[in-house]
Amino acid sequence: MYLLKKIILLAFLLNGFESFANINENIVISTASNALVFKVDKNKKLRQCYYGGKLNSSDYSSIQISTIDAFPTFGTSYINEAALRAVHADGNTSTELVYDSFTTEKEGDSVELTTILLKDVYFPFQVKLCFKAYQKENVIEQWSEIRHTEKKPVMLYNFASSHLAFSNTNYYLTQFYGNWAEEMKMEEVKLTRGVKVLDSKLGVRSDQFAHACFMLSLNAESQENAGDVIGGTLAWPGSWNITFDVDQQNSLHVIPGINAYASQYKLKPNTVFKTPSFLYTYSSEGTGTVSRNFHRWAKKYGIYRGEKTRTTLLNNWEATYFNFNEDVLSKIIKDASDMGFELFLLDDGWFGEKYPRNDDTQGLGDWMVNRKKLPDGIGYLINESNKNNIKFGIWLEPEMVNPKSELYEKHPDWVIGQPNRALDLQRNQLILDLSNPKVQEYVFSVIDKTLSENPGIAYVKWDCNRYMTNSGSYFLSAENQSHLFIDYVHGLFNVLNRVRAKYKDISMMLCSGGGGRIDYATLPYFDEFWITDNTDALDRIFIQWGTTQFFPAMALASHVSVVPNGITGRSEPLKFRFDVAMSAKLGMDLQPKDMSPDDKEFSKKAIQEYYGIRGIVQFGDLYRLLSPYTNARTALMYVSENKNEAIVFTYLLKKAIAGNNQPLVLNGLDPKKMYAVSEINRDPKSYSWFSPLEGQIFTGEFLMKYGLRFAMYNEYDSKIIKLTVRE
Ligand code: DGJ
Repeated sequence: MYLLKKIILLAFLLNGFESFANINENIVISTASNALVFKVDKNKKLRQCYYGGKLNSSDYSSIQISTIDAFPTFGTSYINEAALRAVHADGNTSTELVYDSFTTEKEGDSVELTTILLKDVYFPFQVKLCFKAYQKENVIEQWSEIRHTEKKPVMLYNFASSHLAFSNTNYYLTQFYGNWAEEMKMEEVKLTRGVKVLDSKLGVRSDQFAHACFMLSLNAESQENAGDVIGGTLAWPGSWNITFDVDQQNSLHVIPGINAYASQYKLKPNTVFKTPSFLYTYSSEGTGTVSRNFHRWAKKYGIYRGEKTRTTLLNNWEATYFNFNEDVLSKIIKDASDMGFELFLLDDGWFGEKYPRNDDTQGLGDWMVNRKKLPDGIGYLINESNKNNIKFGIWLEPEMVNPKSELYEKHPDWVIGQPNRALDLQRNQLILDLSNPKVQEYVFSVIDKTLSENPGIAYVKWDCNRYMTNSGSYFLSAENQSHLFIDYVHGLFNVLNRVRAKYKDISMMLCSGGGGRIDYATLPYFDEFWITDNTDALDRIFIQWGTTQFFPAMALASHVSVVPNGITGRSEPLKFRFDVAMSAKLGMDLQPKDMSPDDKEFSKKAIQEYYGIRGIVQFGDLYRLLSPYTNARTALMYVSENKNEAIVFTYLLKKAIAGNNQPLVLNGLDPKKMYAVSEINRDPKSYSWFSPLEGQIFTGEFLMKYGLRFAMYNEYDSKIIKLTVRE
């Protein structure tokens, strides 16, 4: 017995010794306060050993080597879900990757790229794991590059962007789901043993039912300002998949990537299959920091011209729908300008000759002006806008076509579909097959022609109103049909690259029948995004709450619209509608001529108030104070980078007979600074319970411990409070 114990102890020590023999093989990917650590074991396998708060550099060698594969492959790794599954040219279904080497290079002062090369032990087949560490923002961007020099193509069946593992007691997953007009709802669940999959198989408009974003709270349920949380999002506008696998040892494996469903990809020798980027950040201080990390990162790297102030606009969609002409639009342009908006956006319905687009049944694809509605063309409206000192923008849905269109008559083989199947329409339309270079050329020409023939266009709203069904390509060969989902996205990016190469100064809004396409692969081409067609302010509070967990409010277009709301039938006060829209990027979607003089006057003032705070809203840090999911009164605030100014938004969602006195305990301020508080965008006609606090001065510490206390009574009461530092 004694001997046996000695042998076990010796084996343990030897094992320990072997682990420590690899101390020089630490691969540390670190940011200002996060670190991701890999080690190579005695069999040359790359193991993920740590992801969390940054440690002293001398401590990394003390991290124990784990048994967790950095990039598990089918056939040779024991876990259920593989990050990679390939069938090699000779039919071998397994891949066994071992560590070869790694490199790091600086990209400017604050970005570091680490590339770890893994090679199959037998086949000339390799995977590069690539990590960009954004130092200041604490975000890691990871993707994989798969390449081989086998004699024939290799078939890829799974191709994840990353594989992240955790060994904790409990895992709580917040997912983001919804549907048209109710996007980005949040739900937190405890992960149990086995696999949970978040995914989209829609190909296009792929965020319609679920977003490729998650918050993962370790050990306990997530909190806003405390606890270990990882936020992740996949930068890919096509079908995606994020698998969460809690294994037999209670380790969690997170595997994000392109959805492999019906998408096996034949990889030719010497070509690189580059996966989309998976972006993630860790915080020990709750979900609030995770969101702020993403926002800061996005403004610098993730959206087009993230440093530029976003303009306000009036969109005619809910004002007129398809029912307009030159006079109607000219009047709206004038009213928009009088109210103080900076841009007028002409929506759907301005085009189509043989099949005029007077409703959504026809004309999509025929991008020539409908001269019956607009006899003097787009140029006339641009002139009207110029005369009124306002910019002009236009709606396009270049990836789509109605079968009732001249385009479809000419090119029926340009659409996505399958022979011997009936056309499967959504909103009476089909998708153009962007895997086909000729279609890419055409889609580019739609933008190019519209913009070059009308030089005054300053803004494009790029819409996309259906997802893929009947997913076949008349361009791809029979054996490459499964490439369609992936090649479509590459085709889209080819077009977007060309658009941005030629039109750098145009602002673009990313829209997809509401918020069906919001991701960090597409946003680098777009200045802003549309999150939902539901413009009801109450519903928007929730949708904005969900969306801004990952995407910054500066680019989130939020429009004041008519009451009763076209979708929900609710009637909310104009002030409430403005106060909600002003917490993001303000716009309007209603017919000004139908507004009362009082409402117009209020709107004028509100727009000016917005200009006074937009710098803080668009470039400040977001602090969420009271969640609408758990409070009748909800609140959030933005704090300027130097902490000298802040804006608090609070909304009462339900009538409180005796008054809702919930303290607004603020966050993000400098505890030592003195702040004067003042209500803005006041409704002069109603009594403000904030009045006793008006003009008072408090320390940041007081505001972050005791808070601002004032009652709110009526459903849809709202307040915007400005804080300004007093020396
Ligand atoms: C869907 C968009 O989300 C709306 O804002 C509007 O542009 C319509 N399409 C137009 O068809």
